[in-house]
Order: sequence, then C-alpha cells, then structure tokens
Amino acid sequence: MTDTACPKLAQLSEPFPWLRSRLNPPDVYTALRKEQPVAQVKLRNGDSAWLITRYEDVKMVLSDSRVSADNSREGFPVLTEVRPISARVFLRMDPPDHSLYRRLFTNNFVVRRVRAMRPDLERLVDGLIDEILSSEQRPIDLVHKLSLPVPSTVLSWILGAHQEDQEFFNDAAERLLVNGYNATDPEAAGRAMQAAGELVGYVAKLMAEKEASEDPGDDIIGELVQAVRDGLITREEAIANGFIFIVAGHDTTAGMTTLGTLTLLQHPDQMAELQADPSLIPNAVEEMLRYLTIVDQVVLRIAAEDIEVGGQLIRAGEGIIPLINSADRDDERFPNADTFDIHRDTRGHFGFGYGVHQCIGQTLARGELIVVFERLLKRIPTLKLAVPFDDLEFKETASINGVLHLPVTW
Ligand code: HEM
Repeated sequence: MTDTACPKLAQLSEPFPWLRSRLNPPDVYTALRKEQPVAQVKLRNGDSAWLITRYEDVKMVLSDSRVSADNSREGFPVLTEVRPISARVFLRMDPPDHSLYRRLFTNNFVVRRVRAMRPDLERLVDGLIDEILSSEQRPIDLVHKLSLPVPSTVLSWILGAHQEDQEFFNDAAERLLVNGYNATDPEAAGRAMQAAGELVGYVAKLMAEKEASEDPGDDIIGELVQAVRDGLITREEAIANGFIFIVAGHDTTAGMTTLGTLTLLQHPDQMAELQADPSLIPNAVEEMLRYLTIVDQVVLRIAAEDIEVGGQLIRAGEGIIPLINSADRDDERFPNADTFDIHRDTRGHFGFGYGVHQCIGQTLARGELIVVFERLLKRIPTLKLAVPFDDLEFKETASINGVLHLPVTW
C-alpha cells in the first residue's frame, strides 16, 4: 500500500470503492490525479488493485492489448466482499471470444436501425408524458414514470419480446434494478435475484421460440440462436449474453435520464437555452454523459502482461481500475472539467467507455436520451424539483450512479 503525506489522500487507506459525492465523483479523485495518478488501493475482499485517475492513462489502459477484461483470470478486481457468481458474458471477455459477440450484434445497433426507431421512440416518450400530464397526482416520481419505462420498453423491442409481455418485462426489469443495486440488504438482493431469474427465463423462452423456426431472424436473440446452431457458442452462453443487454441497457439509460434531468434543473440558465434552441440538445446530452459518467465501478481490468502506466510498473496478474468518471473530470483534457457546460467540446469523453468494450448500445442510448430531453423540455417547460436537492436519496453504493426517486412538479 502506498503511504502518502498528503492529507487529502488519507482516504487511500480505506477500502475502495468510496462514496460518490452526489452528482460528482469522490473528492479524493481530484487529489489522486494531481498527486498519485496510479495508486494502489485495498479492496473490500482484501485484494489490492491499481486505481488509474488521469484521462491519458485511462485511455492507454483501455486500449492496450496487454490489459485484459477477462474476469476468469486470477486477481481480477472484485469490488464486493465476496466474488459474485456470474455467467461468462462478452463484457468480461477478450478478443477473439469478445469479437465474436460484437460481430453478432453490431448490425442491431447501427445508426440506420436506431434512426428507424425514432417515430416509435417519440410515441413511447409522448405516451408516458401524456400519462404524467393527465394524472391528478403531483409531485410525480420521474424515475418510475419516465426514466425506467423508456429503456425497458426499448429493450423489450430489441430483444423481440411480445407486446402482451410488455408489462411483465418492465415490471421485472424495474424490480431487478430497484432492488439489485444494494447487495448488502439480503431481502432486496433476494428480490433482485428473483426478478433476474424471471428475465433469464423469459430470454430462454424467446430463444426456444426462435429455435423452433427455420430462420431465427437477425435480431439479437435470432443472432444468438444462429450462433448456437453454427456451433460457435453454447445455449447457456447465448442466454447469458442475451440477458446482459437487460442489465447493461437499463440502469444506465434510466440513470442518465434521471441525473441528466436533475443536472439541468440545477442549471436553469442552460435548461432555458435548450428550451429556446432544441438543436443544442444533442451536445447537451454529450455533456451530460461526460459530466455524469455514471458507469462508475463496472469498468474493471487486469494486467495480462507487465505494463507501465504513468511511470508505474503494473505486474501481470495485478488488478486495474480505470476510473472513467475521474478521467472525464480531468482538467488537462476538459478545461474546468467540474463545470457543466452544454457548449463545451465534449469529444473524446468516456461516458460510454473506450477501446474494444466501448458501449455497443451507445447510438441507441443517445437516440433515447435525445428524444426524452426534446419531449420533456418542450412538453413540461416549467418542470421543477419538488423536494430540496439535499433530500434526494442517491444510490451511493451502487456501481452505476443514480437516485432512487426524483420527485418533480410543474
Ligand atoms: C446512457 C446509457 C449508457 C451508458 C452510460 C453506457 C455505458 C457503458 C460503458 C461505460 C461500457 C464499457 C464497459 C467496459 O469497458 O468495461 C458499456 C458497455 C456495454 N454496454 Fe452500455 N451504456 C449505456 C447504454 C447501453 C444500452 C442502451 C445498451 C444495449 C441495449 C448497452 C449495452 C452495453 C453492452 C452489451 C456493453 C458491453 C460491450 C462490450 O463489452 O463489448 N449499453 N456501456
């Protein structure tokens, strides 16, 4: 463990991960970028890992083939007390296994397909806003009424769920999320496990239907069924890698909708600008992705070979935690990085990660967020927080940032 004389770095002696500061990363990241950009920390399970906090170092780690994302390697960082039992998913694989899955799914996320989805997306978001506006109830919880149902409905579309199963799908996905973030509460963890089991069962059912037909089609489940037929992967691998979309595409997009809205409410001048000129919304979404970089403790790696990062030797087999939410607040890359500014040049942010694992769903996520903010700002222009900011309950221990509820009124 690295000793340090800098009092701001005292937190280094506490096991990682550390609590975020609401919309911001833990304060200590700023000091780390200055004083100790590659720092060894203790994890809750007693292992050690290297924290990488500067933009350029994170970029290097995420694009260097000597660094692996394979969590079956001994020493891969585990951020909970106990190593979770997880199926093998392509998020945690290296090429060439990883490349096989990326090839299977790429077509489902190309710009053309996402563009074609736009009218349906607008109808979905408008329908949810109609419900909000027509209900007598105020305040409403934006998390429940908008942030969660948009991505879960979109996920049900891209997985080819049946229309009549929509309610089940959204409900199970919400139970998984709302209960799943806090692994320290055994009852909540049990409810999350139950919901996960139901969704895995549902993915298996969709697969079985496709298996029965000669042409399984080219949607995500269809591609997986064909890959099993071609002997490229097993049926269990297909189910696990179909299910991962429900986890990867839901909490993230929901969190960005909620915290993006909250960020705008905290910056009313910029919110008014977007209302006056909606053509600024796409760049504002990019700035939200940078400023919030909500995927906090998911991007984990291990050195497959000895590698030097920022002048520090990291040996093969040692865990690496490239902190994308620190990198995106690095003043060296984004001047005044702690300031939210919808006009800034946001190019190169790590909101969707970087390198071979960079988010496969990013075009879709951008499409969802742009439509959400276009419709929300236009249709509820007087939207405001219904409780003091300080009363909001942040998911401080979750691996993806968010709030449990966002009570708003207008
Ligand atoms: C705003 C919303 C989203 C954010 C902020 C986000 C963020 C990320 C990040 C940071 C990674 C990289 C993980 C790593 O390097 O270890 C990632 C990967 C991934 N994301 Fe997203 N994501 C979002 C939406 C989505 C959506 C809508 C989907 C699919 C429907 C999706 C599916 C995935 C998958 C499958 C991976 C793994 C890719 C791979 O390992 O090759 N994400 N995402």
